[in-house]
Amino acid sequence: MMGERPYDGHMPMIWHRDHAGRWPGRGPLGQAPRSSQVGDLAASPASSEASSIEVAGLVKDYPGGRRALAGLSLSVGAGETFGLLGPNGSGKTTTVRILVTLLAMTSGAAAVGGYDVASQAGRVRGLIGYAGQFVGVDDDLTAAESLALQGMLHGLSHQDAWVRCGEVLEALSLADVAATRAGRLSGGQRRRLDVAQALVHRPRVVFLDEPTTGIDPQARAGLWDELRRLCREEGTTVFLTTQYLEEADRACDRVAIIDAGRLVRAGTPASLKAEVGGGRLTLAFDDAATEARAARLLRDLASVVGVEAGDPLVLSVTNPRADLAPLLAALGKAGIEPTGVEQSQVSLDDVFLACTGHRPRAEAAQRGATSGIFAAAHGRRGR
Ligand SMILES: Nc1ncnc2c1ncn2[C@@H]1O[C@H](COP(=O)(O)OP(=O)(O)OP(=O)(O)O)[C@@H](O)[C@H]1O
Ligand SMILES: [Mg+2]
Repeated sequence: MMGERPYDGHMPMIWHRDHAGRWPGRGPLGQAPRSSQVGDLAASPASSEASSIEVAGLVKDYPGGRRALAGLSLSVGAGETFGLLGPNGSGKTTTVRILVTLLAMTSGAAAVGGYDVASQAGRVRGLIGYAGQFVGVDDDLTAAESLALQGMLHGLSHQDAWVRCGEVLEALSLADVAATRAGRLSGGQRRRLDVAQALVHRPRVVFLDEPTTGIDPQARAGLWDELRRLCREEGTTVFLTTQYLEEADRACDRVAIIDAGRLVRAGTPASLKAEVGGGRLTLAFDDAATEARAARLLRDLASVVGVEAGDPLVLSVTNPRADLAPLLAALGKAGIEPTGVEQSQVSLDDVFLACTGHRPRAEAAQRGATSGIFAAAHGRRGR
């Protein structure tokens, strides 16, 4: 039978250095940087910034005139796990590709590990690991071979590469398929292998563009746990994008929400959620007219941070438990009685909605405009 080869601990060394002594590679190692109009953001990194990321006023115009980034600024501390969140087309992949030196910026500045991504691209590449939005694994190599090869391409010795390969296979629950060719792995396993390739050479900074997309919920939870443990233990700075906000909430020290290439909010998940409100109250009414009257009345209460249109009516409040009784009393005074009331804590999904005006995933319910952070950022309240 083709394909399943037992792992014998040896790599078929069919790769050769080029005339300049460089190994061929994919991803950041294999690509030449394009020049940028920006000079050095940091010529020689101090130790405190050795694995930090700085982005200042980043602009990217694609040929044809589409502005993907419109002056994005971000700061990621060394050892932090940082999540870049935003709707489809908001500029997440563009940001990541600029930071890993695969794409030239139009203007602005960015540094990784203290090195300017435009003028010191080679230095940046020496520090980083990268898993792009779409899986890039070699179908003909086994999982173990892929990892060991990546390790060696990044400068690990033959022995170290194989030792590290075993560690990463174990950490990302791929040990059982170590000897399976990537072409025969499931979609989720291929994604895990792709992420493993980004980590195998112990990079100081790792960029993961939607690392868990296409992986089932249970395996996603496992992957986050494994990523966190591995990166914490090794002090790796993680810059990731994800559409699974509840996972970003658990996995990330800080997140940034972007929309149309601009930063909307950045902070710890807890601080962003606190800004939207401590929780949600969902109120159902007999009919739309009563709901509209209730919404008009409630939006003026100090405890109500945001009002989301729709049936039922969703309120962002500072403290769902304490705020409920006065809120019902205010409605009662106006002769309005809800037919149903539900309390829940604010999630990062609510923050996202409040910031961008839409839910993070296409399949999520589109509930229309809202207030909260988004309204504050745009100088207006929700309806
Ligand atoms: N090569 C390109 N040429 C022209 N426009 C592009 C190119 N790549 C991306 N864009 C545009 O730039 C914008 C940002 O795209 P980007 O891929 O960075 O978004 P994203 O946030 O990663 O989206 P998604 O969540 O769908 O992955 C989009 O409007 C997209 O259509
Ligand atoms: Mg993308």
